[in-house]
Amino acid sequence: MTSRNYVLTFTTRYATTNDTRTLLTFRKRLQQHLQKSNPRIWRRDMNSSELWNEALYDIAGPNKWTFIAEYKAKPIGHISGGTITRPDEAPATIGVISTMWVEPKHRNRGVGTRLVHDLLYRLTQEGARDITLRTVNGNTEAQRFWAGLGFQPTITVANAEPRRVLEAINRIILQSDKTPGNPTMKMLGLAAGHDEPPEKVLLEEVEDKLARQKTR
Ligand SMILES: CC(C)(COP(=O)(O)OP(=O)(O)OC[C@H]1O[C@@H](n2cnc3c(N)ncnc32)[C@H](O)[C@@H]1OP(=O)(O)O)[C@@H](O)C(=O)NCCC(=O)NCCS
Repeated sequence: MTSRNYVLTFTTRYATTNDTRTLLTFRKRLQQHLQKSNPRIWRRDMNSSELWNEALYDIAGPNKWTFIAEYKAKPIGHISGGTITRPDEAPATIGVISTMWVEPKHRNRGVGTRLVHDLLYRLTQEGARDITLRTVNGNTEAQRFWAGLGFQPTITVANAEPRRVLEAINRIILQSDKTPGNPTMKMLGLAAGHDEPPEKVLLEEVEDKLARQKTR
């Protein structure tokens, strides 16, 4: 079959709560794909009931819509999104694309583009004046797909373990002069009043907090 025939034979429709299990399956595959794309992203418990609740919310929650793509009456992909309205912001209403998945053997045939089209149509009908989404660094096919549709990176989200940040701060402290009047020490509020070297105090505070969190 040519991809042109294919384009004529897949269909899209609004998801209903009967699609919750399908959506859950797609969302789990998406999560696994994202974890593979970038080992640094937060892990999720694939058996958690939260995932089921989120899938249901994406279908039936207020200002939320999910579309399902089907080929020969079988689901092959989905897109979920919604609108957020904040009167004090401009634009006041934005559209958010939250999750999207197309089964690997059905990719590169226009299914994803059609799903984006359907959701966007709905979101703009609901007043969305800008559309936003998040991509994982390393998910190159998705980043190319979104760039091809005109999405431009606007905000960078960066993650770091607290320990790594403190180590970086410690390096700054160690490299600087530790007299009380030193601007770096003043800025960090560290030089005066600590018996211990400041870097040790900082690390101990954080380690204590982490240990307390673990025992909760
Ligand atoms: C990103 C994703 C949803 C795209 O779905 P898709 O169905 O392959 O999307 P399309 O087929 O519409 O577009 C993909 C490519 O095929 C091209 N294409 C579109 N229609 C086509 C057709 N009829 N024939 C051949 N190629 C086509 C597009 O131009 C696009 O090219 P590009 O990515 O090089 O710019 C899919 O790759 C996926 O599920 N990835 C894993 C999950 C994921 O990353 N989700 C997004 C999270 S932000």
